[in-house]
Amino acid sequence: MNDSSKIIRVGILGFGTVGQGTWKHLVENATFWPKILGVDLIPTRASVRSLEKARSVKILPDQLTTDSESIVDDPEIDLVCELMGGVEEAKELTLRAFAQGKSVITANKALICEHGDELFQAAEKAGVGYAFEASVAGGIPIIKVLRESLVSNEFPLIYGILNGTSNYILTRMEKEGASFEDVLKDARDLGYVEADEALDLDGVDAAHKAIILAYLAHGIWVKIHEVTVEGIRQISNEDLQAAENLGCRIKLIGVIRRDFSNDHVAVAVHPVLIPVEETIARTDGVHNGVCLNGTVVGTVVLTGRGAGQDPTASSVISDLVDVVKGITGVSSLPKLLHVSPEQCVSASPEEIHGRFYLRLAVDDRTGQLAKVAECLAGQGISLATVSQTPHENDQPASLILTTHQTNELSISQAIEQLKNLPGVVGDPVLFRMFDPNEIS
Ligand code: NAP
Ligand code: HSE
Repeated sequence: MNDSSKIIRVGILGFGTVGQGTWKHLVENATFWPKILGVDLIPTRASVRSLEKARSVKILPDQLTTDSESIVDDPEIDLVCELMGGVEEAKELTLRAFAQGKSVITANKALICEHGDELFQAAEKAGVGYAFEASVAGGIPIIKVLRESLVSNEFPLIYGILNGTSNYILTRMEKEGASFEDVLKDARDLGYVEADEALDLDGVDAAHKAIILAYLAHGIWVKIHEVTVEGIRQISNEDLQAAENLGCRIKLIGVIRRDFSNDHVAVAVHPVLIPVEETIARTDGVHNGVCLNGTVVGTVVLTGRGAGQDPTASSVISDLVDVVKGITGVSSLPKLLHVSPEQCVSASPEEIHGRFYLRLAVDDRTGQLAKVAECLAGQGISLATVSQTPHENDQPASLILTTHQTNELSISQAIEQLKNLPGVVGDPVLFRMFDPNEIS
């Protein structure tokens, strides 16, 4: 830790999409770090190729340099985030940081895939951390889940969408009939695409991630030339339509298979037609989805944004916090960043809004529906839909209603009144209509 006490200074190699996102969220959350880590976590300097380029995140001119080594060597810098991409220079800088006793956090799957073994060993030898949650599936915490939460499992099959750019392109081609080139341009503008876009479009980026997952799950570094790698360039709008007619979607997926009878591991990345019922088939846009078939847990599917500034920064910062915990000796985080006991109180029923489904058994007589509607209106509840099933053999009719937005207090008061309303038989049945998009 830095001698100037209780400050951890972070140097960031690369101030592009991910570097700026990490800097931004470290600064925005500055007041929370001392509360949960007992130290200030301060992004201090960053390196770039061009000092002239405009940056969307505010940084002082003297915090930016083209000399990455000066950041690694800076005695004031405690930790390094390697967010510059590329392989050889990133590797040299990473090893240089290790040699100075500095842990490194990276999002660089190409580097890990090519030199992971050497880098992990060097980090271990130097007694420092090398953390890489952001290298696979952007904001999805797949590394932690695989290494920690699912530690008791073996994995005959892991598969999923591991590249946000190609999934974004395929989804928009399928849903809007948009052209490959137009969507690729949008993906670039959104910060999803690698500096070398062929990595995304030809399946290589997904292969890098699949190789990392294969290493974590099976302890083997599969070489990229041993992986079947296909991309998305040959997929046409016609193919996407034809797949839909077959009850499928076309997705670029990474597949990691292990045959436990001979311990052979196969890694592949290719487009597949996958039945629309599968979660991975319905994982759209920039989202990634990883399906893990574990021998103990069964199937676990994780989905979330797989590329872009904020989700990737979320993973980088999660690693940063873990590494800082190791430095400061804070053994566990009892709560999330923004949780403080004095801040939150329980919401009252009138603050909890939603729409409701009601089923009432009613005597089938003139004016009954009007009475029910009046009762609901008395609580400020308006009806969205009404349907009535006619009664048979003197049985009550079934009245099925749905409401517009109201709140828990109003609906519970209305239910109490409906129970006592003449012509209503038995207790009303009430369900909530749950649409997460309507919850603010
Ligand atoms: P980016 O936007 O192209 O940013 C790269 C940054 O590194 C730029 O600021 C660039 O400087 C700087 N840089 C590159 N080479 C350098 C060098 N030799 N010396 C000094 N600075 C150098 O890339 P990114 O999207 O943030 O990706 C960074 C890393 O994160 C890559 O390994 C990528 O695979 C990984 N990743 C990206 C995402 C994503 O959604 N974008 C998600 C997960 C992981 P200039 O700005 O001056 O060119
Ligand atoms: N270019 C990568 C993707 C970034 O589109 O998935 C996230 O690793």
